[in-house]
Amino acid sequence: MRRAKISIIGAGNVGATTAHWCAAAELGDIVLLDIPLTEGMPAGKALDLFQAAPIMGFDARITGTTDWAETAGSDVVVVTAGIARKPGMSRDDLLSTNAKIVGDVAAKIRETSPAAVVIVVSNPLDAMVQRTFQVTGFPAQRVIGQAGILDTARYRAFLAMELGVSVEDIAAMLLGGHGDTMVPIPSCTSVGGIPVTQLIPADRLESIVTRTRNGGAEIVGLLKTGSAYYAPAAATAQMVEAVVRDKKRLVPCAAYCDREYGVGGYFVGVPVILGSGGVEKIVELSLLPAEKAALDKSVAAVRDLVAAMNRLTA
Ligand code: NAI
Ligand code: 2OP
Repeated sequence: MRRAKISIIGAGNVGATTAHWCAAAELGDIVLLDIPLTEGMPAGKALDLFQAAPIMGFDARITGTTDWAETAGSDVVVVTAGIARKPGMSRDDLLSTNAKIVGDVAAKIRETSPAAVVIVVSNPLDAMVQRTFQVTGFPAQRVIGQAGILDTARYRAFLAMELGVSVEDIAAMLLGGHGDTMVPIPSCTSVGGIPVTQLIPADRLESIVTRTRNGGAEIVGLLKTGSAYYAPAAATAQMVEAVVRDKKRLVPCAAYCDREYGVGGYFVGVPVILGSGGVEKIVELSLLPAEKAALDKSVAAVRDLVAAMNRLTA
């Protein structure tokens, strides 16, 4: 059976760690690409990772390159190219630099892997996924942003810490943009099937939501030299797996919503069914008035961000 071809653009922290999780799970053959300025770096990381294969027992071809030709015909392309946050920077501070980088990367993907499903990770996520959609011209189902699986995983991790239970028993769903305006849906959060509202008082739950909203900044503050990468890469690898194994996972991702949730043509974090075609369905929840108002606020923030990006790239 032909193995899937997965190209990861940007061989920095998130890119290389995504390659690691994908290789360990034998999701396919992996090409790790970075800019020529990085010289042997992607090749070095790929070779190092491949030398772990005999120890860990995974079969995957892993190559590192600065030549786009080696990515040709990929089934999935993951975009992590760009700069990451340093202390004091918001995700939105990355807008102008990363809009240029992601626009150039998207043009290369259009040329080299016209049938790929593209998973965008670079920040500010909600704008970068829109930029990729604009430049590739790919059908909206094949352009997806990674944020919701990470944000929900942070929330689930904090809830597990709070209750002293296994992370495996926590199910949750967060909607909206990546960052300050993410929208928790308490009716979709349960612990071993028990609604979270029966286990954690409302004020305590609110402080866990606040910690989740600041989850990325908390890691930046601790690391000081960059932003999170283990959990972001694990979230990205879960999306790659859903596509290459046609898993039909129901997960939150930044998907193109037009009439859905009344968004009007932007990428927003919503529950989707993810399979070999990319976003195969957007699941519309019936929201309480306060949840709908919070989602509308989140969408307005995404719209402003995209408008700022469009001015910069016009
Ligand atoms: P990093 O700095 O470690 O790696 C970025 C890599 O991109 C560098 O190796 C750089 O040389 C490369 N690059 C720059 N321009 C390129 C181009 N034109 N073509 C190919 N490669 C290029 O940064 P890190 O930590 O890996 O983060 C990557 C991006 O992902 C950042 O924008 C960060 O904010 C974002 N991020 C998003 C998350 C999410 O949940 N959506 C979570 C974590 C990070
Ligand atoms: C994060 O949430 C920086 O977006 C990145 O960790």
